[in-house]
Amino acid sequence: MILSIESSCDDSSIALTSIADKKLIFHKKISQELEHSAYGGVVPELAARLHATALPKILEEIKEYLQDVKAVAVTNEPGLSVTLIEGVMMAKALCLSLNIPLIPINHLKGHIYSLFIEKDEEFPLSVLLVSGGHTQILYVKNYETINLLGNTKDDSFGESFDKLAKMLNLGYPGGPIVEKYAKNGNENRFNFTTPLQGSNEIAFSYSGLKNQVRLCIESFKNITEQDKCDICASFQKTASMHIISKLKKVFEKHHFENFAVVGGASANLYLRNKLNTLCKKFNINLLFAPLEFCSDNAAMIGRAGIKAYELNRFVDIDKIVINPKISKVRVF
Ligand code: KG4
Ligand code: ZN
Repeated sequence: MILSIESSCDDSSIALTSIADKKLIFHKKISQELEHSAYGGVVPELAARLHATALPKILEEIKEYLQDVKAVAVTNEPGLSVTLIEGVMMAKALCLSLNIPLIPINHLKGHIYSLFIEKDEEFPLSVLLVSGGHTQILYVKNYETINLLGNTKDDSFGESFDKLAKMLNLGYPGGPIVEKYAKNGNENRFNFTTPLQGSNEIAFSYSGLKNQVRLCIESFKNITEQDKCDICASFQKTASMHIISKLKKVFEKHHFENFAVVGGASANLYLRNKLNTLCKKFNINLLFAPLEFCSDNAAMIGRAGIKAYELNRFVDIDKIVINPKISKVRVF
């Protein structure tokens, strides 16, 4: 089996996946949401310290399996440097002591492989990745070849939910909280402008929308719970319509049989509904990863790890490189 480790942000997670039949044998994740909530976002050094205690605690639970582990797969890019290093250090130590190979995994590839946990992979596939760090449209030919069809120019979809929640003092992570507030809100009360409407470019931008919402919040003397709900609903509508309008342009240009949506923010039911309607119109089969594997987890890293293992994508324990920002400049 493959032991996989994920620590790119604020989730400490370890999984064991059987190489022969891709079955998930063990999966555990310790999230740090509560600890970061007070700060309205992830504090990297605090996250690193929490990984340093959580990862060994999880490893302790699978001690008896270690003799059957054939390789260790670990997220080495992109993410927070101080948290990535916690997982990578543990992976190196395990490989050294068990005398087994080390497999570095790109976190975005991990999200793509969240679609294939306990399943065979099916490529080519076009994918929308919506997370806290990314908003990208990808055309995945296979494990190695991935083309970027569209990217965000600034903030990501999930990040904009986090920032709105912070502005409204709702806690962290913002996505699920803003979605909950939006359920009780009037999405037509505030008319925020959909970003990049006039342009044919396949790209995303959330910083302008964030500013519009900030000015709207600042215009209130006494903001009520209902005002907050209406702001969240109007924001969620505009943020989602931005994705839908750009995807429409992509679908008019390329015909895809299947289209998949991955990443933590793919859990958003409002976005899922709008995507469903759009894909039906274009006769495209819409795929999602199971809800439990949308946000960061080691099961998806293990599933990508199996593919890398089959391709012999091993790296020397002295040569593994941590690339915190790799995807900001180029995709893979
Ligand atoms: O994939 P993920 O766990 O971590 C990254 O790779 O970034 O995604 C986390 C992001 C956070 O920004 C979180 O607020 C967002 O996904 N998110 C959501 C929802 N659930 C999580 N955004 C919108 N709606 C949601 N229901
Ligand atoms: Zn992620």
